[in-house]
Amino acid sequence: MPAVLVLVLVLVAPVAEAATRMGIPGLPQRFRESNIAGDVQIYEVGPRDGLQSEREQVPTSVKVELIQRLAVAGLRAIEATSFVSPRWVPQLGDAEEVISALDMSGPVRYPVLVPNLKGLERAMDVGVREIAVFASATESFARNNLNTTVDGALEMFEPVIATAREHGILVRGYISMCFGDPWEGAVQLRQVVYVACRLVESGCTSLSLGDTIGTGTPGHVLALLDALKSGGVGADVLALHFHDTYGQALANVYAALGAGVREFDSSAGGLGGCPYAKSATGNLATEDLVWMLNGLGIETGVDLDLLIGTSVWMAERLHRPSPSRVVNALAGSECDV
Ligand code: HMG
Ligand code: MG
Repeated sequence: MPAVLVLVLVLVAPVAEAATRMGIPGLPQRFRESNIAGDVQIYEVGPRDGLQSEREQVPTSVKVELIQRLAVAGLRAIEATSFVSPRWVPQLGDAEEVISALDMSGPVRYPVLVPNLKGLERAMDVGVREIAVFASATESFARNNLNTTVDGALEMFEPVIATAREHGILVRGYISMCFGDPWEGAVQLRQVVYVACRLVESGCTSLSLGDTIGTGTPGHVLALLDALKSGGVGADVLALHFHDTYGQALANVYAALGAGVREFDSSAGGLGGCPYAKSATGNLATEDLVWMLNGLGIETGVDLDLLIGTSVWMAERLHRPSPSRVVNALAGSECDV
């Protein structure tokens, strides 16, 4: 039997066994809404956004197993790690080892964060095919997260994006603090539109709008999408990245779905936070997102039971329960770690 198949069986068997105890047959019931057409792409950020703030070093083998389990659960875009300064984010200092352990030639995409040419060189050396640069809508976060200004970051990314594109590497552009900033408070729509246009001009192939501290609400999401459309940035190139600090993430996704967005970032079990934005908690949990999309009859390709089994397994490794409502509803007692 090929080694890869053995690995998949070893990973799936115990989780599948647990999964039979988790799902509730026939639920959620499906009601498709006529104004929401097409499938949705879930962009899983748990291994990167979810783990980057962990104080205790997560072993490389656990990171790799997490990513492989997520792939087996059907996720097709898994942000695996960051090629940033290990002085700034020590938890992800093993980026080369993580990427080298993955099958980079299969159907699963493994994008990584890259801030500068040094990061790009490291990523290319281990065969990365997709990267993300990460800009900020606010000066405070640009300073705290990248040690530069909003424009300084955009300038730093220009050669990164150009070099990546020359090598056929896709480039996502994140914009953080789109819906509020812990130091500056309200963020004007025009600040986000400015950064979005600069990233598109520089050659980003898609953009992800970050609600880094989770303060956004559905009306704000719609207003921002409108402002971006007026600025020439349509929903077809956009993803939304909600942290769930104030419990607004799913409502925000629902609003964005109605406005045509079809890509959403989330992290398995709601892992996460940002080391340079104190009030940031975990991302929207992938399980909570999948449950809602399942109810709307929208295809994601994700096996919810396998995913929950993975989050329960990860919660045990991190010694704390998952904050996901769906994980707790369907595997509650198994989360008491
Ligand atoms: P700096 O200190 O101004 O830069 O950091 P530097 O050029 O002086 O470099 C400092 C040291 O890091 C030097 O080493 C460099 O060689 C090294 P030394 O000479 O002191 O030994 N270095 C690197 N090493 C490895 N790989 C690299 C690299 N670059 C420099 N790529 C820098 C500037 C951009 C490097 C730093 O600020 C940084 O790495 N920041 C990353 C912070 C981060 O990863 N934050 C979390 C991700 S963003 C996020 O979570 C938000 C998001 O989820 C969306 C949302 O929620 O809003 C995406
Ligand atoms: Mg984030």
